[in-house]
Amino acid sequence: MKIVMLGAPGAGKGTQAKKIAAKYNIPHVSTGDIFRANIKGGTELGKEAKSYMDAGKLVPDELTVRILLDRVSEEDCRNGYVLDGFPRTIPQAEVLDKELTKAGEKIDYAINVEVPDENIVDRMSGRRGCPKCGASYHIKYIPPKKEGVCDACGTELVLRDDDKPETVKNRLKVYHEQTQPLIDYYTKQGALKEVDGTVDPEDVFKAITDILG
Ligand code: AP5
Repeated sequence: MKIVMLGAPGAGKGTQAKKIAAKYNIPHVSTGDIFRANIKGGTELGKEAKSYMDAGKLVPDELTVRILLDRVSEEDCRNGYVLDGFPRTIPQAEVLDKELTKAGEKIDYAINVEVPDENIVDRMSGRRGCPKCGASYHIKYIPPKKEGVCDACGTELVLRDDDKPETVKNRLKVYHEQTQPLIDYYTKQGALKEVDGTVDPEDVFKAITDILG
């Protein structure tokens, strides 16, 4: 099963993608996580990506596509994957489709997690992530058992560099201009499914599993 997660920054794509990956036993592939791992590791790719990410801009398509295609060609992606944060532009979607078509494959589901812009800044400013295992929390909505500490591995939680309100506003603008058109793109392919992302994360997940079966 090949799944694409769509939705504004902070809509809950990552939260749901992790649950999908665990339930259906497919890898969770997040281009944002790949970039952040490279920034942390001080690689050339990380240095290049950081300047765009800190400004709330998209990393150029050419670089992003190369990284994504490399990742999905790995052995663990043979039976499918859930893509989180990719594609983010029409050209990215077209390159992915071209590669899939060559292999006689396609995206089965594009799940759009709908959350209005008004809720987004609140979600992002309250987000805390684990720099070690990648678990994600929200200080109000999905708090860890012990404040500031990861439930899974006990590491101190951090705020993401690009979750500052000014950067979030820019990310939202970029989302509406460059990523939202993908809703029409996948509607035309018959792959689009919409879920309400404003409800409790477990209820969002229930709506998704009702779709995926
Ligand atoms: P990326 O890491 O992909 O960020 P994003 O799309 O902006 O999405 P987020 O990870 O911020 O949010 P999310 O929807 O996953 O929400 P989450 O589940 O964490 O990209 C970062 C940057 O990398 C981009 O700006 C760009 O520069 C670059 N990049 C990445 N991919 C790229 C690409 N393909 N092309 C070009 N550039 C690329 O949830 C958010 C918060 O809300 C959390 O605190 C969570 O706990 C909470 N929450 C989740 N669900 C609920 C709920 N139902 N109710 C209440 N709270 C909830």
